[in-house]
Amino acid sequence: MSDTLFTLNTGAKIPAVGLGTWQSDPGQVKKAVSHALSVGYRHIDCAFVYGNESEVGEGLAEAFKSGLKREDVFITTKLWCTRHREPQACLDESLQRLGLDYVDLYLMHWPVPMNANGNHPLFPKLDGGSRDLDKSWSHIKTWKEMEKLTKTGKVKAIGVANYSKKYLEELLPEASVVPAVNQIENHPYLPQQEVVDFCREKTIHVTAYSPLGSTGSPLFQEEGIQKVAKKHDVSAGTILLSYHVARGSSVIPKSITPSRIEENLKIIKLDSSDMDALEQISKTKGLTRFVYPAFGVDLGFPDKQ
Ligand SMILES: NC(=O)c1ccc[n+]([C@@H]2O[C@H](COP(=O)([O-])OP(=O)(O)OC[C@H]3O[C@@H](n4cnc5c(N)ncnc54)[C@H](OP(=O)(O)O)[C@@H]3O)[C@@H](O)[C@H]2O)c1
Repeated sequence: MSDTLFTLNTGAKIPAVGLGTWQSDPGQVKKAVSHALSVGYRHIDCAFVYGNESEVGEGLAEAFKSGLKREDVFITTKLWCTRHREPQACLDESLQRLGLDYVDLYLMHWPVPMNANGNHPLFPKLDGGSRDLDKSWSHIKTWKEMEKLTKTGKVKAIGVANYSKKYLEELLPEASVVPAVNQIENHPYLPQQEVVDFCREKTIHVTAYSPLGSTGSPLFQEEGIQKVAKKHDVSAGTILLSYHVARGSSVIPKSITPSRIEENLKIIKLDSSDMDALEQISKTKGLTRFVYPAFGVDLGFPDKQ
């Protein structure tokens, strides 16, 4: 099932499993990317802000040199918050670092414009320590700029990330292009069912990030997950990833460890009793968000983090 493909509202196909690259340090990520592509991954998730696109590009170049065709790999990267007023320039920098002419998907990383001329190029803060937001710009204006990119040949599709239902409801009436994807934190501690259902209704594909619970995750030890893993005689990781594919979402586990990169390609079919069991977990344990950047704005996320 690792070769499952989902169809985006553009008609393009996105492979169900991709390799995440956040916190994959230089010195590690080139090998991770080229290993992933050599064992069958055809989807790589990147971002300008991860600071490692050049090395990801080296991993891609190595794979292309050994015969992989560019059109056979789905590559995503993302517009960072301090660059919301100039998506074209930020995209060009990403393409240059990745060594690519186009990406398959360009996402707005967060619906939160930040000051481009603040005290830090990526994470500007005000004197009191709070995020330095660009309050005279808006995520809707950013989207309108991103829509122009679809005419440049440099992006096959555009989408969003970290959009709650509230933010999608603000964006959609203003959009000429419906986002192809909403990439959100998603795992049994944060099912985000409302967002997943809303996206499905609006033809927006969901990609689940931090599916394993990110660095130092407690999800592997979670009793409810271990029970389903035991039933199928697979690892807890396989259950965590298969959960999304069963929901019609793609999933982008990050690893720099060759054996884990291989293991994470394994997707099994879960039945409705497995899904019911996994859905029960957040109902009894509550919600946990592992990635939360504290922008100081109400993003409409579940209030328990
Ligand atoms: N759009 C956004 O705002 C956003 C935010 C966060 C993440 N993302 C994307 O989503 C990707 C995945 O999320 P994530 O990096 O937060 O976390 P994740 O994929 O949930 O978890 C990664 C962690 O799990 C470990 N791991 C990987 N496979 C494993 C396995 N089979 N068994 C045990 N441990 C395993 C990794 O260790 P090793 O690497 O040491 O093997 C790493 O510590 C990111 O890399 C990024 O591309 C997007």
